[in-house]
Amino acid sequence: MALLVFFQVFVLAVAVPAVGQKADFLSIDCGLENSSGYQYNKIDYVSDGSYVDGGKSYSVATGYDPPSSTLRSFPSGERNCYTLPTAAGTKYLVRVVLFYGNYDGKNSSSMMLRFDLHLGVNRWTTVKNADNEAYEAVFIAWASWAPVCLVKTGDATPFVNVVELRPLTDALYPTVMANQSMGRHRRRNMAASGIYRYI
Ligand SMILES: *[C@@H]1O[C@H](CO)[C@@H](O)[C@H](O)[C@H]1NC(C)=O
Ligand SMILES: *[C@@H]1O[C@H](CO)[C@@H](O)[C@H](O)[C@H]1NC(C)=O
Ligand SMILES: *[C@@H]1O[C@H](CO)[C@@H](O)[C@H](O)[C@H]1NC(C)=O
Repeated sequence: MALLVFFQVFVLAVAVPAVGQKADFLSIDCGLENSSGYQYNKIDYVSDGSYVDGGKSYSVATGYDPPSSTLRSFPSGERNCYTLPTAAGTKYLVRVVLFYGNYDGKNSSSMMLRFDLHLGVNRWTTVKNADNEAYEAVFIAWASWAPVCLVKTGDATPFVNVVELRPLTDALYPTVMANQSMGRHRRRNMAASGIYRYI
């Protein structure tokens, strides 16, 4: 099936839209109890209740800005998936943010927080630093939904703080095809410091 190759992103300009977010952006604050959602940095965040089954809600132990301040962890099941709504044939960027923040009070080190992310049936990556790391992939949707899954590979309990989905225009990342997705290798901000995560 599809290959996951790696890409680098160089952000040349910081362009945060002055008005609200685009209608087809989906930003999920995992573990958020309030089903009304909220707006942060001009992005509308929703709770994850309608995108996932199971798991438990936690807040990170240290103070941290939303949307990373809550997370959902999955102590049971080998594979737990978020079902994201997609339009078949459309290209998407999906981003998963992990911020451990000692939510379970176990002081786990990064080495102890290893698990895998899957995009559909394909292994996307192994989480290497679950204490403040974002993972991104670009893919072409093959159906009206795409599962993003957290898969146990050892003793670590998978968890996730944020899942974001952004439709891309066809012209971006031409090497991404229906049979070939891409996982991000590295993202570098080449312009002034500031907010670039949300682009
Ligand atoms: C849920 O969020 C809404 C909108 O941000 C807020 O008005 C409301 O007070 C919140 N409810 C609770 C129980 O925190
Ligand atoms: C975690 O670290 C804190 C501070 O060092 C310590 O007080 C606590 O006992 C540790 N908890 C565990 C479960 O190791
Ligand atoms: C993917 O599809 C394209 C166009 O149909 C084809 O040229 C390419 O060889 C395929 N790549 C793989 C890895 O199957």
